[in-house]
Amino acid sequence: FRIIFPVLACLCLLFGAPDSGQAAPTIIRFSHVVGDDTPKGQAALKLKSIVEERMGDRFVVEVYPNSSLFDDDQIFEALLLDDAQMAAPSLSKFTVYTKSLQVFDLPFLFQDLTAVDRFQKSPEGQALLTSFTDRGLLGLGYLHNGMKQLSANRKLSVPQDATGLKFRIQPSEVLKAQFAAIGAEAVPKPFSQVFSLLSTGVLDGQENTWSNIYSQKFHTAQTHITESNHGLLDYMVVTSVNFWEGLSSEDQRDLRAAVEEAIAFANDLAGKIEQADRQKVVDAGTAEVVQLSRNERNQWVEAMRPVWQQFEDGIGRDLINKAYGANQ
Ligand code: LMR
Repeated sequence: FRIIFPVLACLCLLFGAPDSGQAAPTIIRFSHVVGDDTPKGQAALKLKSIVEERMGDRFVVEVYPNSSLFDDDQIFEALLLDDAQMAAPSLSKFTVYTKSLQVFDLPFLFQDLTAVDRFQKSPEGQALLTSFTDRGLLGLGYLHNGMKQLSANRKLSVPQDATGLKFRIQPSEVLKAQFAAIGAEAVPKPFSQVFSLLSTGVLDGQENTWSNIYSQKFHTAQTHITESNHGLLDYMVVTSVNFWEGLSSEDQRDLRAAVEEAIAFANDLAGKIEQADRQKVVDAGTAEVVQLSRNERNQWVEAMRPVWQQFEDGIGRDLINKAYGANQ
């Protein structure tokens, strides 16, 4: 042994370790900030299982939910540094990379997810997926969550009810302007901090979907939730250009197909999760769900709509018209 071992070690150094014939699968860390029982959580888990089943010899998807790997203010850098390979940040969080995506934040632009879907599938919507590859990021598809509701520690029926309140927002200039338009203060904070900021009373309110409200227990930290459906919270599944271009064309094709299938699965679930979580919030009875009369709703629309014009130059009027046109 004393002779054979050094000889083997030398041979390994000279010719490399004996090859098992197969390269190790590429790890795809999918990092996100919500729970598993949400549209995004379900999409990530679906992708993991599709990949495991069909290309487990080539890829392994590791899913990190609930900001357990990266928070939403770290994820883009993590993708660019190859510390994470996939994520699905909310469209509101892309502002630094492209102004065009601000279209999705405009208040009262989309009537419902059907209209959103129509716009996202249009050539203009699809073009946005590749509109910031020069910044090192590539969109692989859109993923739904749902329409946002307004919650606070006071009843909000008309815009004046929100005057002077502090709302948590995602880091988006449009959302900041939307709250300024109703005389409220908007404070950008990572998703992982919202529950504690609300429950300690540091912030008075926030806007989010039924699924995020329920899964993060925001309804236990707020007295009222106004069913305003005033804006959209959707996602883009993204990877880095570097990671993507390092893959063979066969791997790109198969991975893209897997992502698309996972998205279709979760998008189909999104509406059901939205309705089920809305009902769970109502049943919990911890926060009163406030319905708006037509007249009250019109007041919110009137107060917030001028925001469109503020961002028209950056987004492009044609793109806004195209998105709005998807409502018909
Ligand atoms: C938020 O920050 O409120 C959302 O973007 C969280 C998410 O990913 O749904």
